[in-house]
Amino acid sequence: MRIFRNKKVLTAIFALILACLAYFAWPNHKTAEPQVNSTPATAPNASTTFNKNQYSLTDPNSIWVIVNKKHSLRPVTYAPSDLVVPSVPLRAPGNESMQLRQITASALEQMFAAAKAAGINLQLSSGYRSYSYQVGTYNSYVKQSGQAYANTISARPGFSEHQTGLAADIEPVSRQCEIVDCFANLPEGKWLAANAYKYGFLMRYPADKASITGYDYEPWHFRYIGTALSTELRALHVETLEEFFGVSGGSYSP
Ligand code: DAL
Ligand code: ZN
Repeated sequence: MRIFRNKKVLTAIFALILACLAYFAWPNHKTAEPQVNSTPATAPNASTTFNKNQYSLTDPNSIWVIVNKKHSLRPVTYAPSDLVVPSVPLRAPGNESMQLRQITASALEQMFAAAKAAGINLQLSSGYRSYSYQVGTYNSYVKQSGQAYANTISARPGFSEHQTGLAADIEPVSRQCEIVDCFANLPEGKWLAANAYKYGFLMRYPADKASITGYDYEPWHFRYIGTALSTELRALHVETLEEFFGVSGGSYSP
């Protein structure tokens, strides 16, 4: 055809084909750490293409790291490098445990602001706890109630999600039902149970899952996992990371 004898037209077609090939072949680059969404997730529809390998389950810097009685932090003395104090009401200003990783702090700030707009006043009760801080926390529970009971409510040093900087214990500003089950029945506990997933948080120790998570019900303990995973879990009605990823966790190895 005459049109193909025209050198300019042929060059243009060739360039277009090259551009298409480059577009579809270019790898999907990801940043090392996901950014907090500026708008919270809303509709929890399960994804048919959810990629369970998107982030590491073992790297302590990963937002999907699984830390439980079968999986300690590695190294056990791991400490995050981006701890900050979130701009939210704090139970113990100045205390080490009032810090969180940057990504957790941003998500917590957004969540607390949304709660406040709904008339719910929340504060951070306990966030990051270093290995040595957890030594004191765990030992005080052991001294108070014995090791068997302590193990149902407190993690051994090196086995606590709090050491990742991704976990936050949350309480009402009034401190009513502070770190006790009745928190679940307060407006603050109910609001969090219904809305935390929109901000990338998971109630990590749900009721009746101690054989899977290793811990009794903790309606105040929320773990940042990012909105992609939190909305997926919500949509699937899967409550624990262990069940979703098929990872063990119920008890310490002998
Ligand atoms: N209370 C939780 C399980 C912890 O100590 O990390
Ligand atoms: Zn906790």
